[in-house]
Amino acid sequence: MNVLLFGATGMVGQGVLRESLLDPDVQNVLSIGRSLTGQRHPKLRELVHTDFLDFSALEPQMKGFDACFFCLGVSSAGMPEERYQRVTYDITMAAARTVARLNPGMTFIYVSGLGTDSTERGRVMWARVKGKTENALMKLPFKARYMFRPGFIQPLRGIRSKTRLYRAIYIIMGPIYPLIKVLFPKYVTTTEELGRAMIKVAKQGAPKSVLENWDINRI
Ligand SMILES: NC(=O)c1ccc[n+]([C@@H]2O[C@H](COP(=O)([O-])OP(=O)(O)OC[C@H]3O[C@@H](n4cnc5c(N)ncnc54)[C@H](OP(=O)(O)O)[C@@H]3O)[C@@H](O)[C@H]2O)c1
Repeated sequence: MNVLLFGATGMVGQGVLRESLLDPDVQNVLSIGRSLTGQRHPKLRELVHTDFLDFSALEPQMKGFDACFFCLGVSSAGMPEERYQRVTYDITMAAARTVARLNPGMTFIYVSGLGTDSTERGRVMWARVKGKTENALMKLPFKARYMFRPGFIQPLRGIRSKTRLYRAIYIIMGPIYPLIKVLFPKYVTTTEELGRAMIKVAKQGAPKSVLENWDINRI
């Protein structure tokens, strides 16, 4: 399986990159990011790109992929809706439209989040924008597309969030993660479980398109 990865420098992306490099069924990973991951591996190639609303210059290199793991995203904390929408909706759709056109047999996996609002009309801004993004992705001509909605993600194996706020939260919560996982198993996952679930769904599919945190852990 050839994998195209967005957001490989982030917490979720680092997790699925690690699992992809370990998985014998993944032959190649191409990461497209604003910066390099700092990792070296025979399976990994990286492209540094600046304009995430226009991928035309990279198109020749974006062909021939079986799966796309889209882990690029930002926290909405303190962000006006217009800016949050530009990253969450505009960038995602620019990338997704390009890869759908170039890879008709592709499975596209989008990481949204627990509480995403599919009605696009609720009061929570981030949930509305993620819902709009999921709904638009569902209409693209991929072989299959899955919306992953993790809840609280425990970073494992030295993986760190790029978001300062999250890093602080993870440091504070670190010691009590095992307790949180026991108390709220439906809402907590790990970078490892999430990464492995994405790969498994890309290989084998899943019975439904929207996968909540508990589905991810079960997979
Ligand atoms: N962390 C959680 O607990 C959690 C829970 C549920 C859902 N999620 C969702 O999972 C996704 C990934 O989250 P994460 O925790 O991995 O975030 P993260 O650690 O902050 O990483 C974000 C990734 O997105 C890239 N990115 C952000 N803005 C960009 C832009 N304008 N242009 C290009 N690349 C950009 C970053 O690249 P740079 O390295 O260049 O900044 C980085 O690779 C998000 O959509 C988030 O909502 C996260």
